[in-house]
Amino acid sequence: MRLLVLHGPNLNLLGSREPGLYGSCSLEQINASLHEQAARLGVELLSFQSNHEGALVDRIQAARGDTDGILINAAAYTHTSIALRDALLAVDLPFVELHLSNTHSRELFRHHSYLADRAVGVICGFGSTSYRLALDGLVDHLRLSRP
Ligand code: DQA
Repeated sequence: MRLLVLHGPNLNLLGSREPGLYGSCSLEQINASLHEQAARLGVELLSFQSNHEGALVDRIQAARGDTDGILINAAAYTHTSIALRDALLAVDLPFVELHLSNTHSRELFRHHSYLADRAVGVICGFGSTSYRLALDGLVDHLRLSRP
């Protein structure tokens, strides 16, 4: 099984960016522990971060055919991007939306997601643990749906 984790804009600054909200782990640390978790689960994991909407769209399109599912923290694009929604629907891959913070306890504009209604599931509010929960959830979902 091969999975892709996508990190959207400003997540390259994790660790130093608003640590009270997003925690003190860097993106490199989050990716490292996700890769260790993936290895324990026996799945291959690729990761990609971009601050550019089109680059994320291109990476989603490139996943078609060689990826079984996607974990996505689209960051601010969650709340704005019809293009990311369309790309995820176009490749027709199961995906989990995740956020470090609880977007529902924050500003109203963060309560809406262009992705959530088509996601297998949504996880938010657990800091870097949201990534671990999302990976466990997606792997379980794929194993149960394709025994
Ligand atoms: C975020 C929440 C978004 O609202 C915000 O724009 C981010 C990070 C999170 O992980 O909590 O950049 O996706």
